[in-house]
Amino acid sequence: MTDGARPLPDSGTAESATSRNRTAQRPGSGAAIADRTNLGPMIMEWLHELAECSEDQVELTRRYLTPEHAKAAEIVMARMREAGMSASLDAVGNVVGRFPGRRPDARRLILGSHLDTVQNAGKYDGALGVMLPIACLKALHERGERLDYPVDVIAFGDEEGVRFQATLIGSRAVAGDFDPTLLTAVDEDGVRLHEALRAFGLDPDAVGRAAYRRDEVAGYIEVHIEQGPVLEAEGRPIGVVSSIAGATRLRAEVIGRAGHAGTVPMHLRHDALAAASEAVAAIERICLDIPGAVGTVGVLRTVSGAVNVIPGVVKFTVDVRAGSDERHQEALARIEGAFLAIAQRRGVVFDSVTTHDVRACQCSPRLMRCLGEAIEAEGFEVRELPSGAGHDAMAMAHLTEVGMLFVRCKDGISHHPAESMTEADAEVAARVLLRFLEGFDPNEGAPSDHGAAGEAPC
Ligand code: GLV
Ligand code: MN
Ligand code: MN
Repeated sequence: MTDGARPLPDSGTAESATSRNRTAQRPGSGAAIADRTNLGPMIMEWLHELAECSEDQVELTRRYLTPEHAKAAEIVMARMREAGMSASLDAVGNVVGRFPGRRPDARRLILGSHLDTVQNAGKYDGALGVMLPIACLKALHERGERLDYPVDVIAFGDEEGVRFQATLIGSRAVAGDFDPTLLTAVDEDGVRLHEALRAFGLDPDAVGRAAYRRDEVAGYIEVHIEQGPVLEAEGRPIGVVSSIAGATRLRAEVIGRAGHAGTVPMHLRHDALAAASEAVAAIERICLDIPGAVGTVGVLRTVSGAVNVIPGVVKFTVDVRAGSDERHQEALARIEGAFLAIAQRRGVVFDSVTTHDVRACQCSPRLMRCLGEAIEAEGFEVRELPSGAGHDAMAMAHLTEVGMLFVRCKDGISHHPAESMTEADAEVAARVLLRFLEGFDPNEGAPSDHGAAGEAPC
């Protein structure tokens, strides 16, 4: 084992090296690889390289099963192989890299996040949780080190749901929770998911093969930028996620009556856009009223709209989330009631299809504690925080215990090209993950304990 470590950079945070509490280091991890790495620069370079795979020359947009997804997958597979992993595509286009452990029969730990992006995205959402674990495993590989247990890194093909309006396709398939009716979902060009899978070189009839067995998995860990302002406001580079908000997405349509903008008097109109506007305002009012609920209309368009035509049909999307299932359901019920009232008053029809519906997800107390110990061993205080954003971890919770690390993001901005994080924070996160990996025991939290692993040691 060679010690080729370069000096550690200053993390650039309030908790600088001088205030670090090295005595918090876990017993047995004294020779931790985390002490001898400097992975931040490489992780950032890899993330910038991946961001070149975009459908648009100016904006970063990389949707599921596009040629740019294929290009990104090739890059990820190459990085995995450099890290001593085997790498291949699974049945839904996820990249799966396997890092062998000393005990091949041990249950495997899965690390990962997604490769797809929203339109005009930032470089870190999803990609960080793919590249950072590969960098950590590469550090182990280059030192000839193995963990006791095997580790898989999965770069999920679809989390954002931008192309087929159904989120988490990649992680649902891995978790064995893929709904086959999704295969007929269409993108905006009318391409069905099963056609897109075929065009990507995959067999839509084989999607079931992407699923892992419950008894072969010891847990799932996702590293992700926070996408919010809390860590930055508190001067912390890293935090542990406690829960992920439940979320529902609707594709809604208002059907009114189109007409001539000059001839139909105001009191005889059934203006679909005026009705939709009321609906948007109602969603905002209802979610303001319910603590912890958030509601967003991110897309709204008139069908065949023109300056001198009363809108006859309007299509819009609704995204409603809340940290508690009770509040989430209350928000949905009140929004439905508001749509009905607007429809009756205005003589229009509201139609909606639910395209995504997940309950709130609690992270595993055991994995949270193990991640917290790794953070303390790096000299930082543990900050637990909930996630308002959705993550692959929500789908993976159907398969195994899940834990997440949040990394500070600049100004809390995400889903936007201004999304940013520092090399120093990437380094902190890599060291925390390495410490976690070195301390993780795949025998604890057996599948039957899933979700209730309690106080078992790491
Ligand atoms: C995913 O990024 C989501 O929360 O919408
Ligand atoms: Mn996202
Ligand atoms: Mn994400």
